[in-house]
Amino acid sequence: MTDKRNITRLIEAAVRARENAYAPYSHFTVGAALLTQSGDIYTGCNIENAAYGPSNCAERTAFFKAVSEGERAFEAIAVAGSFAGALLTQYAFPCGVCRQVMAEFCPPDFTIIVAKSTTEYLIKKLEEFLPDNFGPANLQR
Ligand code: THU
Repeated sequence: MTDKRNITRLIEAAVRARENAYAPYSHFTVGAALLTQSGDIYTGCNIENAAYGPSNCAERTAFFKAVSEGERAFEAIAVAGSFAGALLTQYAFPCGVCRQVMAEFCPPDFTIIVAKSTTEYLIKKLEEFLPDNFGPANLQR
């Protein structure tokens, strides 16, 4: 369950993961922490590329790490992003591509926490960020 303890755990993990961000082009560093239904946390950071296109967001890094380890059931993700520097000065909402990746694996009530700190954060459900999405159900005959 995404109780207060897990929210705090996730935000702290996202803030720590942000320290590993590789963002020499945008200087916008992002960390994410993904909670599985079994209570494990997979973290991710954004990883940019000189060719720009191959860059990966923090959220997708966390999802791809988890899925590649055999995880399929997720409960919540926390995201923390800002221009480089310890202080988180804004809410960094997941981009459209990351929302679509979330919709591949998560139900509409999947919890998304967008954080500036463990005391300043917004909580929404995936269905609020990506209503009426195209997803796995569309490809079931
Ligand atoms: N970015 C993320 O990692 N997650 C988001 O939710 C928004 C954007 C990254 C991509 C790029 O490396 C940098 O932030 C600026 O867009």
